[in-house]
Amino acid sequence: MLIDSHCHLDRVDLSPYQNDFSEFMRETREAGVDHMLCVSIDLESYPAMLDLVLPYEDISVSAGVHPNDFDRREPDVEALLELASHPRNVAIGETGLDFFRSEGDLEWQRQRFRVHIQAAREAGKPLIIHTRDAREETLQIMREEQAEQAGGVLHCFTENWEMASAALDMGFYISFSGIVTFKNAQELRDVAARVPLDRMLIETDSPYLAPTPYRGKPNEPKYVRRVAETIAELRGMEVSDLANQTAQNFQRLFSTPLK
Ligand code: NI
Repeated sequence: MLIDSHCHLDRVDLSPYQNDFSEFMRETREAGVDHMLCVSIDLESYPAMLDLVLPYEDISVSAGVHPNDFDRREPDVEALLELASHPRNVAIGETGLDFFRSEGDLEWQRQRFRVHIQAAREAGKPLIIHTRDAREETLQIMREEQAEQAGGVLHCFTENWEMASAALDMGFYISFSGIVTFKNAQELRDVAARVPLDRMLIETDSPYLAPTPYRGKPNEPKYVRRVAETIAELRGMEVSDLANQTAQNFQRLFSTPLK
């Protein structure tokens, strides 16, 4: 079983599929992708995203507002809880801190992150956390808001072992994207070889960050296989075992039993 634990399906390039989402789904299933988690990045695009994916039972959704953009409708705990109550919702996020893409006074980002953690705890749902150039503060806010009570995943992980280890200690999972296939990502591959197998997820973050050899092109969930292949090779195991193990982890974390 192969699962893409993080993608943005309302943003994938449908031009190879006659601009037809159902054709995209047919080919994605045919390529062996059994389930996808379609991750919300703002409240403005959320209703259309939900409409797009609802007909497909092999797609789950999350509810959240990405840390990159200041000029989005600001969610409060209540709004997130309302979205999280949808039967197809399995998580809160993506949320977190990004000091790489945003500059200036980022108090709004910290506050937004805290609101998401509070909502996740209240909803009893795991967090999908984005963190970039903000290691210490991400961990600090996670601790202050008792994020371990909600649990979750550090998605598209690009940080060092110390951060992975601190998140693992809080009960979090670590998710690897196509970045592990990049030539210059040796440090990240070392982390991927070390994270306990039962605490690891794989993802594409489509349509961003296509793995080698598709780098620079629009990413798609079916390329999650490249992520599985790369990590399986690192760890000297069969691709199918890596895929099955990460699929089990997904089902455990997101309480989403799949057939
Ligand atoms: Ni994302």
